[in-house]
Amino acid sequence: MPYRLTVLGTGYLGATHAACMADLGYEVLGLDVDAAKIARLQAGDLPIYEPGLEELLKRNLEAGRLRFTTSYEEAAEFGDVHFICVGTPQKPGEYAADTSYVDAVVDSLAPHLTRECLVVGKSTVPVGTAARIAERLTRLAPAGDQVELAWNPEFLREGYAVQDTLRPDRIVIGVASEKAEKILREVYAPMLSAGVPLIVTDYPTAELVKTAANAFLATKISFINAMAEVCEAAHADVKQLSLALSYDERIGGKFLNPGLGFGGGCLPKDIRAFMARAGELGADQALSFLREVDAINMRRRARMVDLARELAGGSFDGRNVAVLGAAFKPNSDDIRDSPALDVAVNIRTQGGRVRVYDPVALDNARRAHPELEYGESAFDVARDAHVVLLLTEWQEFIELDPEELGRVVAERKVVDGRNALDADAWRAAGWHYRALGRP
Ligand code: UDX
Repeated sequence: MPYRLTVLGTGYLGATHAACMADLGYEVLGLDVDAAKIARLQAGDLPIYEPGLEELLKRNLEAGRLRFTTSYEEAAEFGDVHFICVGTPQKPGEYAADTSYVDAVVDSLAPHLTRECLVVGKSTVPVGTAARIAERLTRLAPAGDQVELAWNPEFLREGYAVQDTLRPDRIVIGVASEKAEKILREVYAPMLSAGVPLIVTDYPTAELVKTAANAFLATKISFINAMAEVCEAAHADVKQLSLALSYDERIGGKFLNPGLGFGGGCLPKDIRAFMARAGELGADQALSFLREVDAINMRRRARMVDLARELAGGSFDGRNVAVLGAAFKPNSDDIRDSPALDVAVNIRTQGGRVRVYDPVALDNARRAHPELEYGESAFDVARDAHVVLLLTEWQEFIELDPEELGRVVAERKVVDGRNALDADAWRAAGWHYRALGRP
């Protein structure tokens, strides 16, 4: 009998994991404490924007392999393998991660675990959490040490979540027994037989792989953005610099795009939680560079506002500013720690009339920032604008015709916050084009 799986927490990670595992043929039960979310998922209505995921959800609901519930009792009864997929946001006013949702899952599930099963943590947690949870599980579960824990971090990118789940670059599992390893090898057999590398390790290493990966990615982005600052001072071009660096195989071109920097629900809070945890462990010096990585990243947002003000004539008073993009990156409706919205809010605070457009993130943006104005298209928000800001590099913005857009604006001035537009084409159409890190 193949294992029956539960997925505890049906946010970005959980909804994707549940649908993908069902698509591999498993019977999957998704659980969330949010009854409204569960009702939508059960109806095949995906609460988030993620290319390809809604089809997968519908297909597996119809096939009867995938169901949703709010009952821990039902989940405990159903599952042989339980995946913890809840969030670990930044604590308000602190750097540390809030692991209370992970703890709540363990405390709600464990008392119902009356038979042998494996609990698998996928959430991003401070190193040391798994060991703590393993002890708690065996203590709280009626089945005692027949309940085991493994740690299996996720690496999925929003916008590519399905692909990253079904064909990950690697699978990392932190286990305390051969039995746990065997179960996870079976669960992930379709990926492993397709050649996905597997790293079997202990809990702390598995936990650290995730935070180290995100710290590296954040550092790479801030590195090129630090070069952008130097380029600005030296009248050099960071886009050409980045391209030249990218041909060095040891460096590589991915995550080397200079611009407004990183945001989202992961990189910013993960590097901060990593620093906080290293501090607790007495290893804070090892990660003090991440403070600089964070600072470089935040400075890009301030620099963007400065450039926009410069183009607006030195002050935002009485100036219309068109903001293209609200999501923290393209192909996502996620606005958590979005650099684009941060810039928009800042300009509005400084007296500018800001109008924002995004292909999919408008509803989320409206809810979070009712004080901003929104429009129905790039052309709509650009009408009578004194300056246009490209802050999230959606393909539809990259494909804008500068000549056509030029006809609706008050002044042909654009700041390319993502180094995504064809500077020559925009200049040829009479635009004053500026970008971060370029002359
Ligand atoms: C990230 C990790 O990539 C993923 O492995 C992890 O599991 C969760 O966090 P995600 O938050 O979806 O995924 O976004 P990602 O694609 O990594 O982009 C993060 C941010 O960096 C975005 O704001 C993006 O605009 C920015 N970025 C990315 C750059 O500024 N420059 C780049 O070159 C690449």
